[in-house]
Amino acid sequence: MRRALVRALSRPLILAAAAVAIPLGSAAPAASDGVVVGGFPVDVSESPWTVALSSRDRFGGMRSGQFCGGVAVGPSTVLTAAHCMSEDVLGAPPGQLADLKVVAGRTDLYRDTGQEVSVRSVWVNPGYDSVGNAGDFAVLTLAQPLPAGTVIGMAAEGDPAYEAGTDAVVYGWGDSTGFGAYSHSLRAARVHVLSDASCERAYPGTSGGTYDARSMVCAGEVRGGRDACQGDSGGPLVAQGRVIGLVSWGSGCGRPGSPGVYTRVSDAVKTLGWTRALRDPTRPPEGV
Ligand code: ARG
Repeated sequence: MRRALVRALSRPLILAAAAVAIPLGSAAPAASDGVVVGGFPVDVSESPWTVALSSRDRFGGMRSGQFCGGVAVGPSTVLTAAHCMSEDVLGAPPGQLADLKVVAGRTDLYRDTGQEVSVRSVWVNPGYDSVGNAGDFAVLTLAQPLPAGTVIGMAAEGDPAYEAGTDAVVYGWGDSTGFGAYSHSLRAARVHVLSDASCERAYPGTSGGTYDARSMVCAGEVRGGRDACQGDSGGPLVAQGRVIGLVSWGSGCGRPGSPGVYTRVSDAVKTLGWTRALRDPTRPPEGV
């Protein structure tokens, strides 16, 4: 069932079926007030590095073609989830998607504020494991740079923001109810970074998802209610002013005992060889 949820974005009927299977008692908090579930509306100017990935050809024009989130880590460099670039989601390899764009500075996807920038190239982590979801990151290189001030720094290995209990915020235009209600306006939800031990307990691999502390970090609330959800994938989890995670997967949304699982950004930084660039802010990471 977890696989079905991960792919639910391109198969809404499966999401509906899965949602019905969730006992009402545990689903209730997810339906509270909805990105991200249990969240609140934000203006993109408060998190200008949060971008939407768009393809109107594939997803229609209604919500600016949004299908995933991303985060600007360099003027022309956006990090997102590898699974957002999969054929399962896009219906074709990313190279065949002529109208793949990054939308920046647009709080409300019904409007045409901000910028739409074409993606020049897509690099998907060759180590991404589409079964276990380890290494779920990809790098988009933009055809033009984003406006100055759009970029956020990335957490490196050993960053104190990864300590359990750290306050974090996740941003996105995804499902705000857990039942397929995609938001047209940007939302955020406050969650806490959880210990690797509790993430491993939540996702031991028995019913689908396996937590891998090396390449993932998990965050949520003990009582559930606040979480990322379908459509938020690739978007940022931010703590102490740095991006520490990318929305990756989870069992349902906002369910107690099933925290959201994020790509560990410090692991992406290491794999990409960006560690040096992090220490020298005058040289933001560019391309791969
Ligand atoms: N895989 C989903 C997507 O493609 C993200 C799911 C996140 N789920 C969660 N409970 N945090 O948008």
